[in-house]
Amino acid sequence: MTQVEIFEVGPRDGLQNEKRDIPVAEKIALVDCLSGAGFRRIECASFVSPKWVPQMAGSAQVLAGITRTKGVRYAALTPNMRGFEDAMAAGADEVAIFGSASEGFSRANINASIAESLERFAPVAQAAMENGLPVRGYISCVTDCPYDGATPPGAVARVAAALRDMGCYEISLGDTIGRGTPESIGEMLDAVLEELPAPRLAGHYHDTAGRALENIEVSLEKGLRVFDAAVGGLGGCPYAPGAAGNVATEAVHDRLTALGYDSGLNRDLLIRAADMARAMRSPA
Ligand code: HMG
Ligand code: MG
Repeated sequence: MTQVEIFEVGPRDGLQNEKRDIPVAEKIALVDCLSGAGFRRIECASFVSPKWVPQMAGSAQVLAGITRTKGVRYAALTPNMRGFEDAMAAGADEVAIFGSASEGFSRANINASIAESLERFAPVAQAAMENGLPVRGYISCVTDCPYDGATPPGAVARVAAALRDMGCYEISLGDTIGRGTPESIGEMLDAVLEELPAPRLAGHYHDTAGRALENIEVSLEKGLRVFDAAVGGLGGCPYAPGAAGNVATEAVHDRLTALGYDSGLNRDLLIRAADMARAMRSPA
């Protein structure tokens, strides 16, 4: 059976947009449940400005409180050097810089143009490598942007090349608002694959329009073997209006299994974690 990895982003991307101030203890319990499910990487922290994303303010406490499982890397978002230093101090095992292929979302999300953001990321990537921490790169709005409309595939490829040149070991391609289709995702991947081989790419597809699983299938055909997902299908980005719902880990697991791939995950624990995550949501 072909191995496929699901990178669990629920404790970060799943929860970051929740209005309810979720207690750190609940977040720790979720991460601890996920730690036994077979993931190799779990994103559970984000060292961003608490004024921009209040929900992630307790990230250092989350990293301090979890019970670490051998073989699992606990990851954190780090938008700048301040975030990187805080992530290091908190014991993150890997960090991620996160840019955008569209100018409108870049400004809305990190208050910088794409060029400025890349300048800001370079020292973060450098410091991560000097300190022996793997650094991942995210690109948002790979097919569509809530501010600028359709994203040209070449724009994604250019940002991917820049993140590769900075030393990112993997680039995660974000359909931030879930408007990608198998056609637009396929075209985008063809452009990015001119810059990086499939084993260095991950699909990060939100399921807002219910097409994420199809988008994963087209990505599998292009050779991708890593997909980001959030248990319970929670989440979205506060700076991407209407971007509800990461694709649910349990749904990705089931689809991959049906297609003959092995994710190495324990389904019972995924369902337990998904129930926990859904219970953490703000009341409607
Ligand atoms: P800014 O306002 O331009 O930055 O924000 P600044 O340097 O002027 O700082 C403003 C304030 O934030 C200052 O505090 C700084 O100290 C503080 P004040 O003096 O006003 O009290 N600050 C920080 N505090 C804690 N940690 C830090 C930090 N940096 C500055 N690291 C900034 C620029 C990047 C900081 C801000 O725009 C920000 O935090 N943005 C993050 C937005 C975010 O987290 N979005 C969600 C994650 S991305 C996502 O979800 C997409 C993804 O899932 C993929 C996909 O789906 O597409 C990854
Ligand atoms: Mg996301």
